[in-house]
Amino acid sequence: MTPDQQDVYEPPQNIIDDAWIQDWRAVEAAAAADPQGYWAERASELQWSHPWDKVLDDSEAPFYKWFTGARTNIVSNAIDRHLTTARRNKLALIWVGEDTSKVRTFSYFSLNREVEQMANILKAMGVEKGDVVTIYLPRIPEIFFAMLAAAKIGAVHSVIFAGYSSEALSTRIDDSESKVVITADGSWVNGKVFPLKKIVDEAVRFSPTVENVIVVRNTETPVTMDSVRDHWYHELARLPIAKGHCPTVQVDAEDPLFILYTSGSTGKPKAILHTHGGYQVGTYTTLRYSFDIKEEDRWWCTADPGWITGHSYLVYGPLLNGATVLMAEGNPTYPYPDIWWQLIEHYGVTGFYTAPTAIRTLMRFGDAWVTKHDLSSLRLLGSVGEPINPEAWRWFHHVVGGDRCPIIDTWWQTETGMFQITTVPTMDQKPGSAGRPVFGQQAAVVDEAGDEVPVGTEGFLVLRNPWPAMMRTLFKDPERYRQTYWAKYPGLYLTGDSARQDEDGYFWIIGRTDDVIKVSGHRLGTAEVESALVSHPAVVEAAVIGLPHDVKGNSIHCSVILANGFSPSKELEEELRNHVAETLSPIAKPDGFDFPEKLPKTRSGKIMRRVLRARALGQDEGDLSTLENS
Ligand code: WTA
Repeated sequence: MTPDQQDVYEPPQNIIDDAWIQDWRAVEAAAAADPQGYWAERASELQWSHPWDKVLDDSEAPFYKWFTGARTNIVSNAIDRHLTTARRNKLALIWVGEDTSKVRTFSYFSLNREVEQMANILKAMGVEKGDVVTIYLPRIPEIFFAMLAAAKIGAVHSVIFAGYSSEALSTRIDDSESKVVITADGSWVNGKVFPLKKIVDEAVRFSPTVENVIVVRNTETPVTMDSVRDHWYHELARLPIAKGHCPTVQVDAEDPLFILYTSGSTGKPKAILHTHGGYQVGTYTTLRYSFDIKEEDRWWCTADPGWITGHSYLVYGPLLNGATVLMAEGNPTYPYPDIWWQLIEHYGVTGFYTAPTAIRTLMRFGDAWVTKHDLSSLRLLGSVGEPINPEAWRWFHHVVGGDRCPIIDTWWQTETGMFQITTVPTMDQKPGSAGRPVFGQQAAVVDEAGDEVPVGTEGFLVLRNPWPAMMRTLFKDPERYRQTYWAKYPGLYLTGDSARQDEDGYFWIIGRTDDVIKVSGHRLGTAEVESALVSHPAVVEAAVIGLPHDVKGNSIHCSVILANGFSPSKELEEELRNHVAETLSPIAKPDGFDFPEKLPKTRSGKIMRRVLRARALGQDEGDLSTLENS
């Protein structure tokens, strides 16, 4: 037994008494014996306008299909079905601005009205089933409307995190051949305006596919409007075309719902494709069971809708469960480091789902910021995005959760669409372990050859069973999908993470094994940062690695070969830092630099990141015999 395994937190009795899943061992065993039966039962809790012929079609694996032959629309389940019940007048969304005196609330009834309006406008612009709608919006209610409106009419949304630069945005718009972009004049970031519309202007200048840009008025900052291409949303909303009922188009269960770009090992981001049928079943079920969503809950997921966590557990999962969801526009430390605790107290949040990096950030300000608030409404806490260190876990549990609230750690990915390794509230929790595979899933830790390693040994984390909310392919690149996830171990899904399993079957995630780094929970590819660096005239070549960081989890360290005429200096470092922020995103701002004469490479020219890491950490560089210049 490893020492950290002994630290076990049992769920409190009141949590057990209330939980949907009482005897989790029985459910786990039944789902393991018949995963398809388990998923069919979950799916039957949702509405389908035509039933499925098959739960799982694996005839073209790894291109799995779920609920084939069925017709549905995620919006029918996320909104429409609630309108015929008492939920119609229940709050669906509470939005709080960065200026917390700005609050907007929407019942399911009024959310539907807003979504219909946005959908009518998209239709009037010629958006049809299968067309990609790019959404570049901050955390404001219109991002809900836009995503749901696109889905409602069978279009495919592509949300781009509203912190990406124009270059990153335009690459994604071009790749998806989007005709419509929905954005805002600007967004509030710590009291300042981030100029979204200006960034869109730069991005679409070279994007011939974009015909219309819809602009939501948010910060009321002046923007330039193209008289043909650009339209204020509030003006469109006044037109007759925006009015009236907009039916929810029934689509095939396997029709695409969204693409979401995420970072991989190469510079080109991957467009992960998810579909209506399986995704709704997976997100609905996992949120319901892991966070025990009940009618009276107030759910708050702090993730941005620009990432998968925002898609699955801020927008779709809660609405599929008919819950009330809170969305906050601001950051956790602005204007003060108790803003989140204030919101939990004020709105009576019961389920609070956030990231370790935020917990560590807030922990540093001391307990008093937390304890001056009454957080007794909280029932369950959640963590996502990277391994949570036990110290942060215990602080979250004790200071925020008052020792009453189980922490549900959730391991999953943009690709998986839904939780894969987590706990339900009746299971014991172990600080630092994500828990057990979700019902119906079998995870394993394997070695290079694909053989399962002994308990306690580190190896590659793989998933054995297909699951409903799995990505279906990489948009326009099925071969890369097969190669990246299914080629190394045929029949097993390669997660890209390393992990170990303990004697109780709990998984302990260690980190990525590829060239992806998680910085403050954001997923970045080292190649993306490298290509941003080499676009600066001072840089000939660059290699980027992640180094351990107390708050961010990982920091970005760059080894840079300078062009003739440039020499290392603090000013140059700052210039390169800003250059990356501008060409990629402020979230990718490098932390440290070094300027070697040469990069350590293998004889075949591959950069030896292991050596760079050892150098940056002042450690032994290990075996250098394969080094090109050894
Ligand atoms: C990491 C985020 C440990 C992991 C939902 C994964 C985690 C990558 C956890 C996917 C967790 C996510 N514990 N590591 N609870 N959750 N990760 O696509 O390395 O942004 O492969 O999805 O985040 O990141 P992505």
